Amino acid sequence: MSHADDHEGTRRDFLYYATGGAGVVATGAAVWPLVNQMNPSADVQALSSIRVDVGDLDPGSQLTVLWLGKPVFIRRRTEEEIAAARDVDLADLPDPIARNNNLGDVPATDENRALDESGEWLVQVGVCTHLGCVPLGDAGDFGGWFCPCHGSHYDTSGRIRRGPAPENLLVPQAVFADETTIVLG
Ligand code: FES
Repeated sequence: MSHADDHEGTRRDFLYYATGGAGVVATGAAVWPLVNQMNPSADVQALSSIRVDVGDLDPGSQLTVLWLGKPVFIRRRTEEEIAAARDVDLADLPDPIARNNNLGDVPATDENRALDESGEWLVQVGVCTHLGCVPLGDAGDFGGWFCPCHGSHYDTSGRIRRGPAPENLLVPQAVFADETTIVLG
């Protein structure tokens, strides 16, 4: 290998690592400030079950917490968001399964994905089912989440509607411990 080739190779590696590093930093910056507000104790991240106080969450807003190393979106939905999620023909869904770890393989109705009966609360793992980017909230053509990495659109129930993602956003095990506390895990 000539000296010039050697130099090329080194430079490519450097660019690769620099780009990868920037991605990691950007993700961390988006997720961490919210987590720090929620859970001051760093030990909490290591626990398989965490309690999240959702008492201050207004309708139409979302909280992101880090759980088992992944962002989890907890959204308090508006009436409009719930209505949009429930007014969907299941035949239009690319992924017909709810992907709710509380329920197993049941149809992807909004009722099967929401945490409570009224549908006000939706809890999901905030990881795009295509290649793992963190989707943006209040975005995309279906008013839910949008993954900018390769253009996946999720609806207000977190179901994939358009783009390369193969599955709906995962609904993790979650329950209300009391009126303002959600327990994940
Ligand atoms: S990782 Fe989300 S669309 Fe590819």
